[in-house]
Amino acid sequence: MSSPQPILQRKDLIRDSAYINGLWVKESEQHFDVTDPATNQVIAQLPDQSVSAVNDAIDAAYEAFHTYKNTTPRQRAIWLRNFYNLMLENINDLGQILTWENGKALADSVGEIRYAASYFEWYAEEAPRVYGTVIQPGNAGNRAFTIKQPIGVCGLICPWNFPSAMITRKAAAALAAGCTVVIKPDAQTPLSALALAALAEEAGFPKGAFNVVLADKNTPQVGVTLCESPKVKKVSFTGSTRVGKLLMKQASTTMKKLSFELGGNAPFIVFENADLDHAVDQAIASKFRGLGQTCVCANRLYVQESVVDKFAELMAAKVRQFVLGHGLHSDTTHGCMINGQAIEKVEEHKKDAIEKGAKIVLEGGPLKELGPHFYNPAIVSHVPQSAKVSKEETFGPLCPIFTFKTTEEVVKYANDTDVGLASYVFSRDINTIYTVSEALEVGMVSCNTGLFSDATIPFGGVKESGFGREGSLYGLDDYTVVKVVTIGGLPNKI
Ligand code: SIN
Repeated sequence: MSSPQPILQRKDLIRDSAYINGLWVKESEQHFDVTDPATNQVIAQLPDQSVSAVNDAIDAAYEAFHTYKNTTPRQRAIWLRNFYNLMLENINDLGQILTWENGKALADSVGEIRYAASYFEWYAEEAPRVYGTVIQPGNAGNRAFTIKQPIGVCGLICPWNFPSAMITRKAAAALAAGCTVVIKPDAQTPLSALALAALAEEAGFPKGAFNVVLADKNTPQVGVTLCESPKVKKVSFTGSTRVGKLLMKQASTTMKKLSFELGGNAPFIVFENADLDHAVDQAIASKFRGLGQTCVCANRLYVQESVVDKFAELMAAKVRQFVLGHGLHSDTTHGCMINGQAIEKVEEHKKDAIEKGAKIVLEGGPLKELGPHFYNPAIVSHVPQSAKVSKEETFGPLCPIFTFKTTEEVVKYANDTDVGLASYVFSRDINTIYTVSEALEVGMVSCNTGLFSDATIPFGGVKESGFGREGSLYGLDDYTVVKVVTIGGLPNKI
């Protein structure tokens, strides 16, 4: 298949340079290719920046912070709102750029841009609402109050699976709080980040407030630089638990504030009293969003014994209707995987589950005739608890269906993992909804819906899924520090 080209209203949204201190920076000793994952064709060549270029970006953000932190929250809200409006004005261009580099279907990409923009809308509204508290200290002659201040320069290390939304979820909160940012997008999907940089400039953000650095082979050094620079006060990372642990070690050298949104292993629990058709629709939406390549995708489906075969049959019927193809083609419902390694993981988990006794419902497998990274979704049922997929995130289109008998049993299975990000519970019984939600060791429980992501809710995990919350009223806390001011020597009473 040859690579279809995006048809853009604004061709200037495709950039081939990093964005540092309000300037587009192309010079670099090394460069890297960005490819369309559906065809492996090269679509851009970008600078693989050195540590010194990253330090330039940090210096620019540090310099800009001294004035940016003193802008009024109302002024910042105006820039954030401008950014939101610009994203929506350019939604079709941004969506096409995203599909081109990531491979997801255009409708999903356009949905992601809307979702990404909503963080700027939300934090435009939150920026002026950062309140402190008044405290009555133990000493009668003292008075105290707290203020929340922006923490400083933030390093934002972002993944390829949501090339736009994972940037805006971090950057909107940081910029609203009065912080400046250095963004490092994944080398596989940097074009969306650069398109956002172009819009940040138009939105009016001062130079140095919004920077994007680029690296592929140099990524580890860039990570170390962001984590170890004393000028960077906070690092936010979305990605694997393995890399999160590495960054945490590096950041300990400067005692940086961190927030990490790491891997998940979401259980999707369906009780026999659930509305089965609805549960199937929602399972399809959750499991196959981005072809299974999100941290909150259902990874393990637990279906109560009496309805499991029916559930598997209904799932298979829906999956057979998928139209896989290049994300830019209008009839495509599901695009391709990001790379060959992602496909290998799906194959490994599928083979392991079958070897351990799982039943094949839909065989699935690579679709080489469509392109190098296409994969027909697979469904296996009656998966034993010993299968790898019960403990490890597949991050792809394998739908493993496990069975359970009792509530206690399924809660035990669901919690039997090192991570705890998202989870799903389907039941018509309100007691079950409450008790299971409370018992699950996760940061997010989604009841009777497979899609819960929203700028208004706190997104984040527990256990080895990380810490910190993005979005919602809590998202600003990650970019602020609480300072207390005590005024002493006051007369006790008049
Ligand atoms: C993720 O996969 O990390 C984010 C998913 C979402 O925001 O819904």
